[in-house]
Amino acid sequence: MKFTYYGHATFLVDVQGKKILFDPFFNGNPLANAALADTIEADFIFVTHGHGDHVSDLASIAKRTGATVVCAAEIAGWLGNQGVTNTLPMNHGGFIQFPFGKAKGVNAVHSSSLPDGSNGGNPMGFVFNTEEGDFYIAGDTALTMDMQLIPLWAKLSFAVLPIGGHFTMDVADAVHAAKFAQVDKIVGVHYDTFGYIKIDKEAALSAFAAAEKTLLLPDVGITIEL
Ligand code: NI
Ligand code: MN
Repeated sequence: MKFTYYGHATFLVDVQGKKILFDPFFNGNPLANAALADTIEADFIFVTHGHGDHVSDLASIAKRTGATVVCAAEIAGWLGNQGVTNTLPMNHGGFIQFPFGKAKGVNAVHSSSLPDGSNGGNPMGFVFNTEEGDFYIAGDTALTMDMQLIPLWAKLSFAVLPIGGHFTMDVADAVHAAKFAQVDKIVGVHYDTFGYIKIDKEAALSAFAAAEKTLLLPDVGITIEL
C-alpha cells in the first residue's frame, strides 16, 4: 500500500490498484499545493465528515474525476444538490464490498455540519480490509472506547490518526488510540495547519516510541510505502 500526504487530513491511499482519496482540502489549506485540486486523480473519495477543512474541494474533484464518493447519506445529499451523482451514501455499520476490499464506517466523536450549515450526518472513521493489509482512518475524533472494537474487525497494518489536539485527539490520546486499535504503525495527521493545532513533532515521535509504536509524519507531497 502507498500513502501520499497532502497536508492537514488530506491524503491518498493506493491499494489493489485503486486510488482512494480522503477528505480533499487543497484550496484554503495553508500546507497544501492548491493546484493539485485541478489535477489529482482518484477512483474513490472517502469523506469522514462535512467540515470545510475536509470537503473544500470535494465536489469539484468528484465531478472532474468521476470518482465514487463514499460518505454519510447527508453529505451525499449535499453533493447531489451540486450535481455530484456518483455517491455511495452510508453510515456507521457493516462492511461494504468494494473492488479493493471491504470498508465500514465506525464511530468518531466529533461533529459534522456542511459549509452551508446543513447537517452532515454522523462524523465517522473507516476500517478497511484488503488483501494488501488492513487499515483504519480515524477521521476527526476524540479518543473513544469504541476504538477497542476495531481489533474485532481488522488486524491493522497501519492507522491514520489525528494528533493536533484542540479539535481532535492530541498526541497522548492518539497513543492510547493506537493501543486500543492494536496498531504499531501510525501516520499522524490534522496537526500544524493552524495555530490551534501546532505540535512539537520531536515530542510526538518520542511519545509513540516510548509506547513501542512508530509515528510517521511524512512531509507534504511525499509518498511512503506502508
Ligand atoms: Ni472537523
Ligand atoms: Mn478537521
